[in-house]
Amino acid sequence: MTHVTLECELSLQVLENLDILVSRAMQWTMRTFMQLVQLVLLASYSESIIAAAPSGFPKTGNGLWYTQPGRVWSREWLPVGNGFLATQETSQLNIESLWSGGPFADPTYNGGNKQPSEQAATAQSMHQIRAAVFQSPTGDTDNTEELATDPGQYGSYAGTGILLSTLRLTGTVTNYTRWLDLDKGLASTKWTQNSTDLLRTTFCSNPTRACIEHTTTTNAQPLPDLTYAFSVALESGLPVPNITCQSKNILLVRGFVSASPPGMAYAFLFRAFSSSPLAKFRCIQQPVAFGFPPNATIHLSSTASSSSGQVHDAWIAWVGDTEYDMNAGDVAHNFTFRGIDPVVKLKQLPIASALSDYTALLAQHTADITNVLSSSFSLDLGQTPDLTQPTDALKAAYKVDGPASSNAYLDWVLFNYGRYLLASSSRGVLPANLQGKWANGASNAWSADYHSNINIQMNYWIAEMTGLSQVTLPLFNYFEKTWAPRGAYTAQVLYNITRGWVTHNEMNIFGHTGMKAYENSAEWANYPESAVWMMFHVWDHFDYTNDVEWWKSQGWPLVKLFNAVEKGFAASEDTDTAFLTEVRMKRAQMDKGLRIGSWGQLQEWKFDQDSPTDTHRHLSHLVGLYPGYAIANFDPKVQGTGPSKAYSKNQILDAASVSLVHRGNGTGPDADSGWEKVWRAAAWAQFGNSSMFYHELSFAMSENFGANLFSLYNPYDPDPIFQIDANFGFPAAVMNGLLQAPDVASVSTPLVVTLLPALPTQWRSGSIRGARVRGGIMVDVKWSKGKLTEATFTVNAAQNIRQRPVEVVYASHVLGSFTSSSGLKKVFTINRL
Ligand SMILES: *[C@@H]1O[C@H](CO)[C@@H](O)[C@H](O)[C@H]1NC(C)=O
Ligand SMILES: *[C@@H]1O[C@H](CO)[C@@H](O)[C@H](O)[C@H]1NC(C)=O
Ligand SMILES: *[C@@H]1O[C@H](CO)[C@@H](O)[C@H](O)[C@H]1NC(C)=O
Ligand SMILES: *[C@@H]1O[C@H](CO)[C@@H](O)[C@H](O)[C@H]1NC(C)=O
Ligand SMILES: *[C@@H]1O[C@H](CO)[C@@H](O)[C@H](O)[C@H]1NC(C)=O
Ligand SMILES: *[C@@H]1O[C@H](CO)[C@@H](O)[C@H](O)[C@H]1NC(C)=O
Ligand SMILES: *[C@@H]1O[C@H](CO)[C@@H](O)[C@H](O)[C@H]1NC(C)=O
Ligand SMILES: *[C@@H]1O[C@H](CO)[C@@H](O)[C@H](O)[C@H]1NC(C)=O
Repeated sequence: MTHVTLECELSLQVLENLDILVSRAMQWTMRTFMQLVQLVLLASYSESIIAAAPSGFPKTGNGLWYTQPGRVWSREWLPVGNGFLATQETSQLNIESLWSGGPFADPTYNGGNKQPSEQAATAQSMHQIRAAVFQSPTGDTDNTEELATDPGQYGSYAGTGILLSTLRLTGTVTNYTRWLDLDKGLASTKWTQNSTDLLRTTFCSNPTRACIEHTTTTNAQPLPDLTYAFSVALESGLPVPNITCQSKNILLVRGFVSASPPGMAYAFLFRAFSSSPLAKFRCIQQPVAFGFPPNATIHLSSTASSSSGQVHDAWIAWVGDTEYDMNAGDVAHNFTFRGIDPVVKLKQLPIASALSDYTALLAQHTADITNVLSSSFSLDLGQTPDLTQPTDALKAAYKVDGPASSNAYLDWVLFNYGRYLLASSSRGVLPANLQGKWANGASNAWSADYHSNINIQMNYWIAEMTGLSQVTLPLFNYFEKTWAPRGAYTAQVLYNITRGWVTHNEMNIFGHTGMKAYENSAEWANYPESAVWMMFHVWDHFDYTNDVEWWKSQGWPLVKLFNAVEKGFAASEDTDTAFLTEVRMKRAQMDKGLRIGSWGQLQEWKFDQDSPTDTHRHLSHLVGLYPGYAIANFDPKVQGTGPSKAYSKNQILDAASVSLVHRGNGTGPDADSGWEKVWRAAAWAQFGNSSMFYHELSFAMSENFGANLFSLYNPYDPDPIFQIDANFGFPAAVMNGLLQAPDVASVSTPLVVTLLPALPTQWRSGSIRGARVRGGIMVDVKWSKGKLTEATFTVNAAQNIRQRPVEVVYASHVLGSFTSSSGLKKVFTINRL
């Protein structure tokens, strides 16, 4: 959106000084520019007490609002996005595929893998490491460095500069509010300055792939003169791009993500519009050598009012892209990931025709986002919206275990926000990364990459269940096109396996499938399980949607690895029955690894070596509790040859509960992040323990979310790291407190749907409309005064589903059983209130 910090304020000052700055640019250094910005920030903003949400704010309360500009990026700025692009206050810009590193920076980059010539030596090391593991009394090794490789040009997801919009307007800013409308996907800022009432609205539209920033006056005053400039000056490390005027209202930016080596090229095409024919645009080209002022800017002269009327609005629309091409990440393309020039790509988009009618554009965008977010799903937690206090004040007043009166509304907003963020960051080409698609540096914490030891999984926990199935497709394309091709090479060169593929803990967008050597790689990079865990999502997508065509073309080839093989074989129409037989045989021989240890814990390791005081952030041994099913639906009959055959389901659940208690509340010495707390909340919900569930959930909210409700990795840092996983994990945990239907080992095993398993007292009454569970089943649930009142199960008549047995449970009672089939409708009404 528009620069709130820089937009109004900077605007004011820079406005007046812009011409001077441009003409004297050689004398301005970056430092002077920053000082100028700070000066302006301090000087021009007048605090005003506003005691009600702005008039444009949703009446339901579904949004975030503030009475002050955003200052700290990770805790105060507001995000909009369409999957392809993302933007924040000051219009801090992002293009989803802009990454440093990879083959663009180093033509010999090979995904962090050993060379073919190293395979024999690697095999020898592997042999020694395996021998060491088997000889060790605890079955472990502290050294796998021989298997790892230097990350080389692993790179980082990179921010893509800033769009500055500068109004020629002076005077103190009053009446200031900014807000994010989660129904319509709009970020707005409203203020009054020198008798002019202004409204700036920013959104990113998925149908057009463009972002739009619209500025209008809302009283009789004309729109002041306006300047649009693109700058990389506030993003340290992004080289100054070429910025050129294409016409009087079109600016073209072409730059590289890094200077040396140059790295990937990106481009933006900005085009300014006004609904008034009186608006006069001109694009000014300046031969200057600094990122700021940039060497080309678009100016709107609007104040020259005439008898025929005044100019009241203007907007700038932009599209952006890079030369990255996910389809070029295989042997046939020599893993170049290189596509056509981004400028060529952008010039093919119908930017002029599609973006010239603001009213139509806005209507198209709101219809699209409303359709994605709320046409078939909604949640009500019995919240009462508080429109008298801005979101930062509500957040500050939020309490761990707090009363419903103050907590439920913010719980509900954060739930909706998670779905909004996923729909805004996962409808382009790539899946949501560690920061979704919002990043403000040329390199970002953990490269803002894809971590597969919980984070990328958590990003998608809500997708299937809350009707966002379509946003998972970039995830599967990403697996298929960036992991599988080079992962097959890794499987061969590292593990001497010619069937299938493997990845490790951290992945970029260039197929980094090798094991990264960094500090002690044995502790974290040695993580070949990542691919298997990710395949849960592939199976789940089919299990929820029953999309057989998708399964045959993309899902099955990815999954042909693993546990879902047996369940999905028939639907795949694969004729390789020898493969099925082999998988069945190997599964039956496998020890599934569940063991109960000396202090009653579920063992994390094969040997009983867990410490009862280990409050590590991960719950890796409880993956089968949530989001998996090996613990939640433990069945001794499918436990292979290991000792777990001898345990009952209750014994396993009790042991998992002991482990969960001892892992603490997610504030261990190793980290205090949000994702560990929301994962714990979901795990407590799996035990039906509503007070612990809500304790962890509300603890996460109170501890790990900023005023802008971004999830913060290190909340006590003055400039904390944004890590989006808990934004997605929070709503997933909420769902697990309200509705559970964990997977089962075979499709003939009844799917047990538990209603309101961990309903906390803070959400006394409410409803869910359109939740999905496995088998293509849609569930509506209503509750009142803490008790279930009605549950409806439906299956779309047009959907060709596999029939499966379903059992419905509430408060430990079986309410009923049925077999799912197309067109099914089953209603359970409870009237014992
Ligand atoms: C593929 O890329 C490698 C560098 O990673 C290069 O050595 C090789 O010549 C390329 N092969 C072809 C066919 O372009
Ligand atoms: C890879 O496995 C094959 C088949 O088991 C074996 O013959 C070969 O020696 C192995 N290669 C290496 C480098 O270990
Ligand atoms: C308000 O605008 C008027 C007309 O452009 C100008 O003369 C005046 O200086 C402005 N006031 C302030 C406080 O900037
Ligand atoms: C606030 O805005 C309203 C109209 O939107 C205007 O009438 C009023 O004068 C403004 N107040 C201040 C202090 O600018
Ligand atoms: C910028 O323009 C110069 C001169 O035309 C050219 O050499 C350079 O490659 C361009 N840079 C980018 C990123 O397009
Ligand atoms: C824009 O600025 C860059 C340096 O920042 C300079 O190399 C380039 O020549 C300028 N382009 C134009 C068209 O003036
Ligand atoms: C979290 O656990 C720590 C360590 O046991 C404890 O000091 C703290 O009070 C707990 N906080 C909450 C909100 O549970
Ligand atoms: C929830 O878990 C806590 C911590 O283990 C325990 O004290 C409490 O009794 C449990 N509540 C229920 C209802 O099981």
